[in-house]
Amino acid sequence: MAIRPATRADLDALVALENRCFTSDRISRRSFRHFLETEQNQILVIGDTPLAYVLLLFRRGTSLARIYSLAVDPSCRGQGLARQLMTEAETVAMNRDALFLRLEVAIHNQSAIALYESLGYRPIKRIEEYYEDGGDALRLEKRLARDLAKSKRSSFYAQTTEFTCGPAAAIMAMSHLEPGRQFSRIDEIDLWREATTVFMTRGHGGCSPQGLALALSNRGFDVRLLQSSDRIPFIDSVRNPEKKQVIELIHNHFVESLGRNAIDQEVTTIDSRQLRQCMAEGYEILLLISTYQLNRNKAPHWVWLVAMDDRFAYINDPDVDSAELRSAIDNVHMPIPLAKLPTLLGYGTHTYRAAVLLRQPRD
Ligand SMILES: CC(C)(COP(=O)(O)OP(=O)(O)OC[C@H]1O[C@@H](n2cnc3c(N)ncnc32)[C@H](O)[C@@H]1OP(=O)(O)O)[C@@H](O)C(=O)NCCC(=O)NCCS
Repeated sequence: MAIRPATRADLDALVALENRCFTSDRISRRSFRHFLETEQNQILVIGDTPLAYVLLLFRRGTSLARIYSLAVDPSCRGQGLARQLMTEAETVAMNRDALFLRLEVAIHNQSAIALYESLGYRPIKRIEEYYEDGGDALRLEKRLARDLAKSKRSSFYAQTTEFTCGPAAAIMAMSHLEPGRQFSRIDEIDLWREATTVFMTRGHGGCSPQGLALALSNRGFDVRLLQSSDRIPFIDSVRNPEKKQVIELIHNHFVESLGRNAIDQEVTTIDSRQLRQCMAEGYEILLLISTYQLNRNKAPHWVWLVAMDDRFAYINDPDVDSAELRSAIDNVHMPIPLAKLPTLLGYGTHTYRAAVLLRQPRD
């Protein structure tokens, strides 16, 4: 049966359906009218006289949409109508640029929970006394993947130390360029030893763009290095003069070695147009980002840029613990709205940007 958006004419039938489906926490006639009249919300129904509905709520300025209610007439259950409505609701939400769908369900509503879980929703929180009868709710969430990224690539490698995001991102890109090749933890650590500038404010330093570019070039890839300025990256985050000296020494050594490998450091703005162009030329892209946008914790971080479409850049984030987009612990194909990309890219007070590009060498 076809799914269609509800109209004002469906008001009576929706109220009647609601009364047949719920004994408490019913949506009132007044609320239904409000939802039907506001463009921001969307009610999808099945049937000339609605036999099932789903209500989606959108809020401006957030990429989170809510499934506020779902109901199927008791006489039509078990025929896949709820599944059909939920699938369509996801398409509507994606078309409105929502990245997450959230909903609450009564903790004892086994059939609904089974439906949501089979569609990929995950529990993120139990909310006590959520319902009128004092019952608890389970909050579920799903990250909406986009087909482009999903169909294109799947390599994922999680960093095994807090300072090896660069090698882990590089391993994802290399696995994509060399399908079938296995990478291990030793590859991760080896890359780090070659590409790190040793120090950070505390703990081990991560990999610098120059170091990563060099390590990848030494592995036979055709490499380019883009950066927004030729400052020494990350040196400002270190106060200790001796540490600064070491960083500078290693940096200069990297730059010399890059020169010997005929790799220029291209100073450029690094924007989505340029990244798209580089992808079209067959490059895999390792992006330096500031994790501030992801978890409010300002740290330089390397990710693999998996794909781009007209709305999103998709990244694989090797840091499984801290890449917290609210609750989704799903670091594969994380969609970043293109409008947010510029703030994600700049690291530090100088909003330093860098990208390391690699592809198979051309003969
Ligand atoms: C929950 C509800 C929407 C399911 O509607 P439906 O059209 O019968 O569901 P579908 O036929 O599309 O079934 C989809 C999935 O839901 C689950 N499911 C549905 N009925 C189930 C039942 N009685 N027992 C266990 N799982 C059930 C199954 O996972 C099913 O998938 P499957 O058929 O591949 O096994 C419907 O029972 C309903 O309206 N209930 C009252 C209102 C309500 O609880 N709404 C949810 C509020 S959050």
